[in-house]
Amino acid sequence: MDKFYHIVTYGCQMNVHESEKIAGILSELGYKSCGAIEEADIVVFNTCCIRENAENHAYGNIGMLKKLKAAKRDMIIAVGGCLPQQINKAGNLHEKFPYVDIIFGTHNLSKLKDYIVRKQSRRKAVIEIEECDGRIEEGDKPLRASYPNAWVNITYGCNNFCTYCIVPYVRGRERSRKSENIIAEVKSLIEQGYKEITLLGQNVNSYGNGGADIPFYELLEKVALLDGNFRLRFMTSHPKDFSEELAKIIAKYPKICHCLHLPVQSGSDSILAEMNRRYTSADYLRKVEILKKHVPDCAITTDIIVGFPGETEEDFKATLELVKKVDFASAFTFIYSRREGTKAASMPDQIPEDICKRRIMELVELVNAQTRVHSAKFVGQIVEVLCEDYDGKRGLYQGRNEYGRMVYFASQNDEIGNFVQVKVNEANGVSLFGDKV
Ligand code: 5AD
Ligand code: SF4
Repeated sequence: MDKFYHIVTYGCQMNVHESEKIAGILSELGYKSCGAIEEADIVVFNTCCIRENAENHAYGNIGMLKKLKAAKRDMIIAVGGCLPQQINKAGNLHEKFPYVDIIFGTHNLSKLKDYIVRKQSRRKAVIEIEECDGRIEEGDKPLRASYPNAWVNITYGCNNFCTYCIVPYVRGRERSRKSENIIAEVKSLIEQGYKEITLLGQNVNSYGNGGADIPFYELLEKVALLDGNFRLRFMTSHPKDFSEELAKIIAKYPKICHCLHLPVQSGSDSILAEMNRRYTSADYLRKVEILKKHVPDCAITTDIIVGFPGETEEDFKATLELVKKVDFASAFTFIYSRREGTKAASMPDQIPEDICKRRIMELVELVNAQTRVHSAKFVGQIVEVLCEDYDGKRGLYQGRNEYGRMVYFASQNDEIGNFVQVKVNEANGVSLFGDKV
């Protein structure tokens, strides 16, 4: 009889790709994917803890499985990823949800197979949280679910210790994969027909700082030089490590998309210093200038936090000013979330919720206005879209242009995986609509 798995993923692209690795492990054990959680023989929650709401979301969903588990005792529930990796959280999770069978962290994902086998022969929960030992596991066999796009890890962990951020605590010190392994993986993906490769790391620009063989811009060049018809993206870039060499490589190779995610976090120099970002707003603007000098049409996107401890009205205004100056193509905006164990968690002057809400609304309004202007620029243009899905509700195919904008269009053929020329007729927020030409 067939056995089924269901994976619930929270958080960033890194986690989405990690869920593909989890799917790979489960399929090796003979499980097949199923859409409905009720039909699953094993449910894996791949969690995130970057903000409190991501954590609460997971708690809510795990809580909802209590009844199902009572009715279906053989079903295995596993909780992995960043949430249980935090200090004391695995024990708390077990107390709160005693029906969870397996709890594992970010550094022992490859042992999930053993945990499942172990759990099948005992009643007690399997709880295993390991510390990072600096090793990199090669030989994952992810079951990729995002054709024609493929994600490739190049670094793991983070050394930056931005004072608000939990990532260095739950993902360990930064370590880079060997370039030959990365190149071999990308080559094989291209041979399999993948059309868009995204190199992933918390801070891709510092690739190699931990002793890898070449700097990031050289790695990017090597990947861009591979034969085949594919696009190349990378994320995330830390402004302090963004270099002119990298801007030149982006400009030189048509395969590299003119699109850069460069999180600024704040426009206030004193807040940036408190955040331990190691650049000023002027440094950031200089980096943007360097990028635009070499890649004038580059779409720049960013992350911004409002309500960091001690953020004054003036600090917030400085963020709005910077957003106006850079003119981001789009931005992810967040209210600061206090994360236990980080430096900022014990800073005085945590900002009240009502002020945070007002600030984020003002910021979102500005960002949305800029986004609309950026989208409107495409109206009347013919853009190349890599078709990635069919939107059944709209009855339209969808895919991104090189600048990351989602474009919807109609077609009689199955277009998934094709590069399609689309004449844009209409823009709506971050979405574009057009006709295949
Ligand atoms: N609160 C709010 N936003 C955060 N981020 C990271 N940590 C926090 C936090 N504690 C945001 C940053 C980062 C993005 C991935 O998440 O903007 O760039
Ligand atoms: Fe967190 Fe800063 Fe590292 Fe990004 S660079 S993961 S925000 S500590």
